[in-house]
Amino acid sequence: MGISVAVVDIGTDKVVTLIGELEEGEGIHIIGVGEVKSVGVEKGVIKQLDTASRTIAISVRKAEEMAGVNVREVFINVSGHSLKSENFKESVSVSSTPAPVTDAHVQRLLELGRGKSVEENYEILHVIPRYYTLDDQSNIQDPRGLSGCRLSADIHVIKIGRNYSLNLQRAVEKAGFSVVGRVVSALASAEAVLREEEKEDGVLLIDMGAGLTDFVLYLDGSPALTGTIPFGGINVTKDISFYFRLPGDEAERIKKEKGHAFSDDVSEEEIITIKPRGETKQVSIYRKELAKVIEARIAEIIEGSDRVEGVFTRIERENFKISQARAGIVITGGCANLEGITQLVEDISGLAVRVGKPEGLIGLRDKVADPKFATAVGILKYALSSEDIRISPSKRVSSQNGLKESFLSKILEKVRKFFKDIA
Ligand SMILES: Nc1ncnc2c1ncn2[C@@H]1O[C@H](COP(=O)(O)OP(=O)(O)OP(=O)(O)O)[C@@H](O)[C@H]1O
Ligand SMILES: [Mg+2]
Repeated sequence: MGISVAVVDIGTDKVVTLIGELEEGEGIHIIGVGEVKSVGVEKGVIKQLDTASRTIAISVRKAEEMAGVNVREVFINVSGHSLKSENFKESVSVSSTPAPVTDAHVQRLLELGRGKSVEENYEILHVIPRYYTLDDQSNIQDPRGLSGCRLSADIHVIKIGRNYSLNLQRAVEKAGFSVVGRVVSALASAEAVLREEEKEDGVLLIDMGAGLTDFVLYLDGSPALTGTIPFGGINVTKDISFYFRLPGDEAERIKKEKGHAFSDDVSEEEIITIKPRGETKQVSIYRKELAKVIEARIAEIIEGSDRVEGVFTRIERENFKISQARAGIVITGGCANLEGITQLVEDISGLAVRVGKPEGLIGLRDKVADPKFATAVGILKYALSSEDIRISPSKRVSSQNGLKESFLSKILEKVRKFFKDIA
């Protein structure tokens, strides 16, 4: 048996637990899946501690039953309105005459990057070296062992409001589990659905969930900008509900069954029936009308508008350009299931767009093939495999659950070798 790890994706719409097992030389087997409707969590914020932690407990329990293992420690995702990323360039002296770069030099650089980013009431989650420069050699991925005098690095730091991350962690601990690692949702989703060559060429990953639209722009193989827009599928449903006078659950159903995000592709004639509030009978509407309502909101979240900052306007505000995503845009998250979303995003961006579904798994992979599982699968991949992972181990916020010797502790040891840079 391999090493098993449990991860929980705490979303606005659902809480998902995956239990995965790493088989040496084979890959990741998913052996347990527990999905429950989310209650008490909104846009990465815990609104009701008790209900949120009960939901988390039920989700883990379901996955445990399927996998036949007991879970004590979990990796979770973190996101929310307060999430922000920054880039720094730092340098250290290696020696006055060329000498080999050691791990200590690298750690010192990353510490300098971290130090620059420290901000009151914020918690730093990831410190990622983008690339190194050693004297006049640029774009070095790993400088250790190479000789030079002066080492510099471009460093990407991601942080989030401390209150939010502490409350999330409290909810998990109240459910009876220790949080052993946290991954920013956008990075997790990227891990699940992006291909290496896309990251190298430049790609924009957009995870549109129910309450949040997480995104990360990869340039030259590493994250250059990570962020979140506090809108998502819930807002689409609310618009449908308002515009067609439908109760929320009916609006949600119509969206999933008949929704379309690109009205140009919907025929003028197609008619659908809905049952508005106060009507005793079904009424007919043009599907194109529905598509226009959906399109307007999704376009606003992606592109931005006078009243809302969208993914593209945020990217421009941070002095990047959408066109730097030469491999295009990959859309994932539950909203990626919306018919016509790739056409809409192609139309507004002028770039190639595809839907990203979790890839590269063995066992139960059909169960997690939906884009809505991108974050959960990505946390699992982060936790189990990648060498360039940067997971932020969390400090305990309550005294329960002493850290136990377990498979997970062992794998963490292994994993931590790779990212001693993280506090
Ligand atoms: N077939 C579909 N068509 C349209 N929308 C869909 C479809 N399936 C799911 N969605 C929408 O996707 C959203 C849920 O996505 P997801 O499961 O990624 O959210 P979440 O991770 O729980 O929330 P968040 O990450 O925003 O906190 C809901 O708004 C839902 O209506
Ligand atoms: Mg999500």
